[in-house]
This record gives sequence, C-alpha cells and structure tokens, in this order.
Amino acid sequence: MNDFKQWLRAMPKAELHLHIDGSLQASRLLQLAAKNGVDIPYDSVESVEQAYNFEDLQSFLDLYYLGASVLRDEEDFYFLMKDYLDKCHEQNIIHTEIMVEPQTYLPYGVAVETVLAGFRKAIAEAREQNGQSALMILSMLRHLSEDEALAMLDSVEPFRDDFVGIGLASSEVGNPPEKFERLYAKAKSLGYKLIAHAGEEGPPSYIWGALDLLHVDRVDHGVRCVEDDVLVERLVKEQIPLTVCPLSNVRLCVFDTMADHNLLEMLDKGLCVTVNSDDPTYFGGFMNENFESLADELGMNKEQALKLSANGFKASFLSDEAKAALLAKLDAFAAA
Ligand code: ADE
Ligand code: ZN
Repeated sequence: MNDFKQWLRAMPKAELHLHIDGSLQASRLLQLAAKNGVDIPYDSVESVEQAYNFEDLQSFLDLYYLGASVLRDEEDFYFLMKDYLDKCHEQNIIHTEIMVEPQTYLPYGVAVETVLAGFRKAIAEAREQNGQSALMILSMLRHLSEDEALAMLDSVEPFRDDFVGIGLASSEVGNPPEKFERLYAKAKSLGYKLIAHAGEEGPPSYIWGALDLLHVDRVDHGVRCVEDDVLVERLVKEQIPLTVCPLSNVRLCVFDTMADHNLLEMLDKGLCVTVNSDDPTYFGGFMNENFESLADELGMNKEQALKLSANGFKASFLSDEAKAALLAKLDAFAAA
C-alpha cells in the first residue's frame, strides 16, 4: 500500500450517510437467516456476494430489504450495529450518523423498542470502550405512505432522545418530496434535524423540493444538482451539505465509472461535499475504500481529502463544542 493510502486510512473521519441495514455482512445475513428460520435464496457468502450486481437503485433495494428481513430480536440488532461500529473503529471513523429504518421490520412483527434496545447497547459500548461518537437518524421509507411515516414518528415518541433527526430513503423517482410535507413540518416542530435523499436518481426538482418544501438541513446524495446552475448557486450560498457516496453511485449506475464521478468537480464549485459509504457491504467499501477510490480514479490530493473530512465534521448534527473537539483532532492529524 502506498503512503497516501496509509495516510487516508489514518485520517480522522465522520460518516453522515449510512443505512445500518446496508452494513449487514453476508456472513451475518446467513447466520441470522438460519437462526431465525428465514428462507433466503442463498446458501454461501459467495452466493450472496454474487448478487451484489445492480442495475439501478430498485434492483439494489430488492436485495437490501431481503437482507433486512432476517433480523428479529434485540441481539440481532445489537450485532448488526456492533459489526458496523467495530468497522468504524478500525477505519478511524470517529463520528457517525446512522440511518435506522424501523418501518422495514414491522411486517415481521419486530417492535421499534426491540430494534432500539439492540442498537443503543452497541452504541453505548463503542462509546465507553473506544470513545466513539454515534447518533441515530430515523429514516422513513418513501415508497410507503406519508400516513405510515407519521404513524412511525408517533410511535418513536417515547424514544425521542434516541434520534437526532429524520430522513427519507428508498425508491426516489415517483416519490417526490411533496409527498412528505406534513411529516417534515411535524418533525421540525418536534425539534428533529431534517435530511432527505434527493437528486440520486431523481431530477434537480427533487432537490429544490427537499430545500423549499421539506426545509432540510442536509441533502443525501444531491449529485444531480450540477444539472441546474441556479440550484448549485443556492446550495453554495447556503452551504447546504451534500452527503455524497461515490462507490454507491458507481454500483447503482448513477455514474458509469468512478473516473466519471463529479465529486471533485462539486467540491471545486464551492459545494459543501462530504464522503460517505451509504451501504458499505453491498457497494464494495466502507469509508476508507471510498476515499481510496477517489484518490485512485479522480486524483484526489491531501488538501482535498482534508477539506472533505472537515466538511463531514462541520455538517454533522453534533453541538458546536463537540464539532470543534473533533475538528481539532483532524487539525492535529494534518499538522503531524
Ligand atoms: N436505502 C438504502 N440505500 C439507499 C440509497 N442509496 N438510496 C435510497 N434509499 C436507500
Ligand atoms: Zn442512502
């Protein structure tokens, strides 16, 4: 491994766009399917990994929801979160904001309380044992109705402190931001931070909708903003963070190859771009592999890597004091 890759691996990082179900390892999927008696069409790690071959967002989501269907009890959720947080520790991801999607498990009779008990335990251990910082975001599934999302928001009321914000994921095209205006207004009134996937497969108008109708604090993906100069101007002026996921975009054919990815072009335009993994086990890499791929394929340099990492800490939902403490770690690393 060359020196730059070693340096990237050691760089303190924040991850702001991560679906916890997207970190489910193939070996864990098989183990939990067997344990919980869930019939899946795979019998080896290789056969699961062979299915990581997607044409678009929907073809990925079909496998992603099948994977999530093997989780049942508190211990399953504990190990899912622990596996991811162990990986964060290994990769110097010192802060992470994790999307949790309890609507996914409802058809299997899994209560929100069960999900959260497992996740909370793993997060508390990572904090105590390694000083890791993690926040959870309640992410809603946009292929379901707004009423179902509102019902989920109500049902987490007893667990309000577990979530810093709400988000919107799943099939983007055909489920525009305006479908969820009441949900976002209610979440805002309850003090949640607001994020939404927009402009991954959907057009720039979905990013406008996320800004003007949902009033989001951050946009997940947003890579299609470059098709609209006025939108780029707005995003730059307001420094709305975009949580970009390079390996995800290539695996889901948003860009043909990494060499075609617009991440550095977006950074050059003055957009507040961050690097994230989205669904790391399905897309061939966690944070380090995303940064390494930007170095290999786009020629990202140290200065750009530091800027991207600093953007991650600045765009987080931590307090100003906590952000400053983590940015000081990045500064110390850069100076060393
Ligand atoms: N859920 C998990 N990954 C997603 C993605 N990349 N886009 C939309 N919804 C998702
Ligand atoms: Zn995502």
